[in-house]
Amino acid sequence: MFRTFRLSLRFLLPLLAALFALAYVSMPLIDALTLRWFVRDLDIRSAFVARTLDEQIAELSASKSYARIDALLERAAADERLFALGLCDADHRLVRKTHNFPAAVDCGVRERARPGEGFVLELPRGPLHVSVADVQRDGEHVASLVMLHDMSFVQRRSEDTRKYILWLFTVLGLAVALITVAVAHLSWRGWVAGVRAMLRGEGVIRPFAQPRPELQPLVGDLRALLRDMQNERREHDATTLRWNPEALRRLLKDQFSGDEVILVSNREPYIHVRSAQGIQVQRPASGLVTAVEPVMRACSGTWIAHGGGSADRETADAAGRVRVPPADPAYTLRRIWLSKAEEKGYYYGFANEGLWPLCHIAHVRPVFRSEDWEQYRAVNERFAEAVVEEAHTDDPVVLIQDYHFALLPRMVRERLPRATIITFWHIPWPNPESFGICPWRGEILDGLLGSTILGFHTRFHCNNFLQTVDRFLEARIEYESSTVSFGGHLTQVESYPISIAWPAAENDEPVAAARARIRRALGIDDEQLLGLGVDRLDYTKGIVERMRAVERLFELHPEWLRRFTFVQIAAPSRSSLDEYQRFEAQVRATAAQINARFGDSAWQPIRLLVEHHDADSVRAHYRACDVCLVTSLHDGMNLVAKEFIAARDDERGTLILSQFAGASRELHEALIVNPYHIEQVAEALHRALAMPASEQRERMASLRQLVREFNVYRWAGRMLLDAARLRRRERIAARIGEHSEAA
Ligand code: G6P
Repeated sequence: MFRTFRLSLRFLLPLLAALFALAYVSMPLIDALTLRWFVRDLDIRSAFVARTLDEQIAELSASKSYARIDALLERAAADERLFALGLCDADHRLVRKTHNFPAAVDCGVRERARPGEGFVLELPRGPLHVSVADVQRDGEHVASLVMLHDMSFVQRRSEDTRKYILWLFTVLGLAVALITVAVAHLSWRGWVAGVRAMLRGEGVIRPFAQPRPELQPLVGDLRALLRDMQNERREHDATTLRWNPEALRRLLKDQFSGDEVILVSNREPYIHVRSAQGIQVQRPASGLVTAVEPVMRACSGTWIAHGGGSADRETADAAGRVRVPPADPAYTLRRIWLSKAEEKGYYYGFANEGLWPLCHIAHVRPVFRSEDWEQYRAVNERFAEAVVEEAHTDDPVVLIQDYHFALLPRMVRERLPRATIITFWHIPWPNPESFGICPWRGEILDGLLGSTILGFHTRFHCNNFLQTVDRFLEARIEYESSTVSFGGHLTQVESYPISIAWPAAENDEPVAAARARIRRALGIDDEQLLGLGVDRLDYTKGIVERMRAVERLFELHPEWLRRFTFVQIAAPSRSSLDEYQRFEAQVRATAAQINARFGDSAWQPIRLLVEHHDADSVRAHYRACDVCLVTSLHDGMNLVAKEFIAARDDERGTLILSQFAGASRELHEALIVNPYHIEQVAEALHRALAMPASEQRERMASLRQLVREFNVYRWAGRMLLDAARLRRRERIAARIGEHSEAA
């Protein structure tokens, strides 16, 4: 209210000043007007007095009864208004007068007063109205009656009138002020509500709830302005910042002023396993972990994940906490212990037999079981409790990773309403028809919309998600700004292509040394060209199709026989699931069949290495090969492609990349292929093997520049910047709300 009043003052003060100026200017006018009215009144009154007296005066004059004339005049002058009377004879001499007739007045006044129209005579005692009437007898002028009316009452009345007018204008001013403040306040509240709704993305995006009519013409402009400002900021931030761990740390400090970061994923970044050599630390084969771990090292904070290693319990404290990386601790890993039943239902069942095939178009049917769903929900609850336990403030930044935790954003939001929740979906999002297969589609969408920001790798997946929400929820979607408003909460749905840390590693052995060492280890001669695939053993990765393409290459271009070997590093994955066991068998059989067809005891065209390789070993293979094949049938991003590029500081080597991997939207200098089209991949392989060094260099240099710039710090930084902006927007909206409520 006070704010509205202050704002209204700017309008009110000039208005009140104008009112008082008007009052001041109008006073003399009103005086002149009332004076004219009073003079006119006294003229009429004088005429009346004259008519009452003239006959008697005429007769008394004729009979020279002067004493009676005097008495008559005195009697008449006893009237409150009539001040004095005088009588002038035919020769204009003042012959009779009442006792108080002023000496300053004589019969000369006849000259000034016209019949029926008196005039005002100013005397030291005050103004007098002077009028003169003829006294006639038998039609002959015998005398003039001079009537003096006291006009001091006019002055008194004029003063009274001034007072009243002043009061009137004061009251009028106050009334205007009150009405103005009230109207301004009401419209301010209306505007505030409207603008607040717009800031939140409500109202303006509901077809059934239009913004206030007076805001309507402004809606477009305001939204465009906000968007432009946001885009400008975004572009500015993105282009001016060199993204590295330090930039990320600075961003957290500046934008979130030391707010804590809690990350949640299913897979843990460091797995302690018992082995014959004692307890060892393993790094999992997971694109998610590869990308997110450097971010956590930069941000510190706490990473909550399933503790699945055989020696995980004995290496953590009683609460499941352990500082990592083991060699140089930078953040805390909080392990959550899951029972066999929980892991089976939540991880193997709902996440990997349900959601994984649901989101990947790899022609494997999803399986949905109610008991898996129950475990999925229960495990999400357990992680939500862990987030609350790890949070030291009520507004932490919570980074939720992937399809294992679709329900977690809502659960955290309910427990910590002020938290900034950034959820990233690392796998594709299918179209509404495909997603509609899931019996718990509504719950999953609702869960995800507890996020402040929901990220996907590509715009295409964002659009699929928005369309899915549109199909299955009563939510308000604004496609232009890519926001969903659901249950009074706004979620930004944005694409953030994930990447890898840059620089990826230091102190690499020279490429020539790696080439020689790896070839030696494989038992192939130095001249052999090497093709490489690095994947988890997963049916989405197109491993069988890739091997078929190698086979086709030998059919179409037999000159490569014995000159080219294909190495497939395949990390065992989810191997307790039937689908994965079947797939592994199929991969092994395909390799064996091709090797039997083209190989002999001295040379095997396909080397299938189904075992875990650590990061150094994978990197050495990247550096040793001539062509890297990424032929996913469907993939959110695929970081193998980017890791290969990062490993090639010699600017050599060629990347063959599936058009169905998110990475193909960025890495245009790769040879882009359709993995289902075996001949096409075979021809791409042929082209890669025959590619001149200069072309390899040109392509690789450009790819490296892109990955260097669009690294994982930028990925995290952009999400955090957007979250900070959204947080500010919500706070501004809330502040506007507080003011309008306080007002
Ligand atoms: C994909 C998923 C990750 C997962 C990784 C490895 O990249 O998006 O969430 O960690 O595969 O799978 P796993 O089931 O072994 O964690």
